[in-house]
Amino acid sequence: MNTTVSASILSADVCRLGEELDRIKQSGCDHVHFDVMDGVFVPNISFGVPVLAGVRRHTDMFVDVHLMITDPLKYVGVFSDNGADMISFHLESDSDPAAVIREIKARGRKAGIAIKPGTPVSKVLPYVSSVDMVLVMTVEPGFGGQGFMHETLGKIRELKAYIDRECPGVHIQVDGGINAETAALVREAGADILVAGSYLFKGDMAEAARSMR
Ligand code: DX5
Ligand code: ZN
Repeated sequence: MNTTVSASILSADVCRLGEELDRIKQSGCDHVHFDVMDGVFVPNISFGVPVLAGVRRHTDMFVDVHLMITDPLKYVGVFSDNGADMISFHLESDSDPAAVIREIKARGRKAGIAIKPGTPVSKVLPYVSSVDMVLVMTVEPGFGGQGFMHETLGKIRELKAYIDRECPGVHIQVDGGINAETAALVREAGADILVAGSYLFKGDMAEAARSMR
């Protein structure tokens, strides 16, 4: 599968968000990655629905909403109504995963299910065939700018083998610590949607995006 580059606006200059969204598009990135943190599921708070609505008004790019929140089922509707093209939520959240997936699909959005570094792949397998994408976190969720956890590579390989065998076409996304060097490792392991924040925003974004493919 071709590599999709998704720019995490957690690393953007939020006071110039419109210009940052234009930069993402002009740099040849494929998706905008929108991190929602509730301060409970993860020890940080980011941004929510009004900011997503503003992003939607400004750009026609594909917006991938990553919910790091305790009760995703309760919020799928409002994120879906305010501009999300894809919604991913955590298996480790309090909501019933099957119900969340049904709700995302009922609203006509693409569905992703995410696992933290400490969650084994076996736990997510029952849901893989009913989603568009599995997000394998390559850092502990909550903050940008952390170092890539190499021990997640085996999980990506294991998931890729399962997908090839059971449900080809399901995407594998990675998020956290991705740069040119770690992008090569995760691509080789089987990931095809690569999220990056600090690496893309810190310098020449077009060059950084190219180096991830
Ligand atoms: C972390 C977020 C990521 C974050 C990645 O919990 O889910 O999307 O922005 O940032 P980098 O690429 O800087 O590790
Ligand atoms: Zn994210």
